Amino acid sequence: MARIPDAFIDDLLARTDIVELINARVPLKRQGKEYSSRCPFHDERSASFTVSPTKQFYHCFGCGAHGTAISFLMNYDRLEFLDAVDELAKRAGMEIPRDAQQREARPDSAPMYDALEAASRFFVRQLAGNDAARRYLDERGLDDGIRDTFAIGYAPDGFSTLKDALGKDDPRRIAVLEKVGLLSKNERGHSYDKFRDRVIFPIHDRRGRVIAFGGRVLKPEDSPKYLNSPETPLFHKGRELYGLWQVRQANQKIERLIVVEGYMDVVSLFQFGVPQAVATLGTATTPDHAELLFRNAPDVFFCFDGDAAGRRAATRAMESVLPRMRDGRQAFFLFLPDGEDPDSIVRSEGAAGFEARLAGATPLSTFFFDTLGEAINLATLDGKARLAERAKPMLAQIPDGAFADLMRLRLGELTGLGAAVQATQPPPPLRPARGGRGAPPPRRSLVRHAIALLLQKPGLAAGLPPPYPFVALRQPGIELLTELIAIASVRPEITTGVLLAQFDEREEAPALRKLATMPLAGEESSWEVELRDVIGQLDRQALQQRIDDLLAQQREGTLDASGKQTLRELLAQSAR
Ligand code: UTP
Ligand code: MN
Repeated sequence: MARIPDAFIDDLLARTDIVELINARVPLKRQGKEYSSRCPFHDERSASFTVSPTKQFYHCFGCGAHGTAISFLMNYDRLEFLDAVDELAKRAGMEIPRDAQQREARPDSAPMYDALEAASRFFVRQLAGNDAARRYLDERGLDDGIRDTFAIGYAPDGFSTLKDALGKDDPRRIAVLEKVGLLSKNERGHSYDKFRDRVIFPIHDRRGRVIAFGGRVLKPEDSPKYLNSPETPLFHKGRELYGLWQVRQANQKIERLIVVEGYMDVVSLFQFGVPQAVATLGTATTPDHAELLFRNAPDVFFCFDGDAAGRRAATRAMESVLPRMRDGRQAFFLFLPDGEDPDSIVRSEGAAGFEARLAGATPLSTFFFDTLGEAINLATLDGKARLAERAKPMLAQIPDGAFADLMRLRLGELTGLGAAVQATQPPPPLRPARGGRGAPPPRRSLVRHAIALLLQKPGLAAGLPPPYPFVALRQPGIELLTELIAIASVRPEITTGVLLAQFDEREEAPALRKLATMPLAGEESSWEVELRDVIGQLDRQALQQRIDDLLAQQREGTLDASGKQTLRELLAQSAR
């Protein structure tokens, strides 16, 4: 992916006051050199969330959330990377380099978005020209306004209508159409239109771009009833919600979201005055869905069929939302009578009828204990124990807070095992002990010490000119240290946060975060001397390692004349 130049990001973050930025959203309290508050990314009572003005990053000792001003905006304001950079650039009065702006629009995905948008427009045009399709939508009672809002279209019958119209015999265009799931391939590798003779529901992403389609047959005898785009680089169905874009457009502030099963449910509810419904795309509610839902609205209603399949779907949804139930969020479950769905209800009972049902929806807490208590006889001791056993691991997933407390209390009431349940709660996450508690702190290796110093004050790299004899050392962490110096020495403005972000995807990331946040002894002003001293010691160790290697060769009789000469020189050097 082409990127905005690192130097620009470094400069931008250097000119951004992360404390001010976060404090405007989450009031911070000063604590020594750092600032802290309760973590905005998980529920807690203690203040594990710290923001460091010198390191220009935030870190939560409870849930591990961490990052730079950019990642904070991405996670807290839910901005895309480029939008977060844009926002900070505006604040700092800086301009994003122009060519970077264009390149950042992901050169490889741009043709895919274009193809999807063109296909969507193609389907809309086809609908205008097809009587049967328009009649079908008429019969289903979708008015013109709603067809427009949801860009409903029609994919004509025939195996290459879309392919011919948009592919134009151009292999590159056809490859793009294949990549975005608009074409299927037969066994002989020949591609043809995936959607044929179907009403088309385009699926939009959070920014309103078309990323996939769903297509419904017109005739009841055809199957499958609905066909969806496959997973593509732009479409991951476990992360998207049909209708969310339209809901966001229609609501200034989304007070609630209603999760329904079908495209038609979303569209009908919208048309009849309930413009807050979204649908999972033929999949169970995933934890990603749950997070997306709650990031958009505090109250979420799950609406399912009353049959066994609906109950199962509801249970899955419940499992996905429990870990997201921070205080202030509420989930409800609504089951519809057999044979009905939100589309049929809102048509027969109107918005008011549907609202009345929502008002009577089952709260998560009730649904939770009802579901877990199914087939358990709570009148017996055995049954109570069984309920407690089933509930405990699930309750442990609920973030700290009033809701978690109430759920545990309720379990205690139901089982009479209140005290026992409390006792088995995992202890709250501890801050790493400051200073030795009991046992003396483990002796930090030189390498770790150097890494910690560099991470906490990347500018120190400027005081370490090459050469770096220590890189030859066979010790854990040497490569990492080398990498850090390499990055920090060419990016003098780099902050701890940005430096850490370079390693986000790596297995060393958690260890690096620990080193970046551990308290270091001594005044910051002495760190430069300290780092040079540590590197000097490592250089000497590298020298000794080289001498030992040569000595070993000498013992084995494999050291040639030039090797002996080198050994003499190195021994002399180490004696100095
Ligand atoms: P339903 O079978 O409940 O259909 O599928 P529906 O929403 O009531 O549709 P209409 O009213 O008959 O038009 C619910 C959802 O399950 C997915 C679709 O997302 C659909 O909207 N589904 C269903 C499929 O993906 N494939 C199918 O064959 C059927
Ligand atoms: Mn239906």
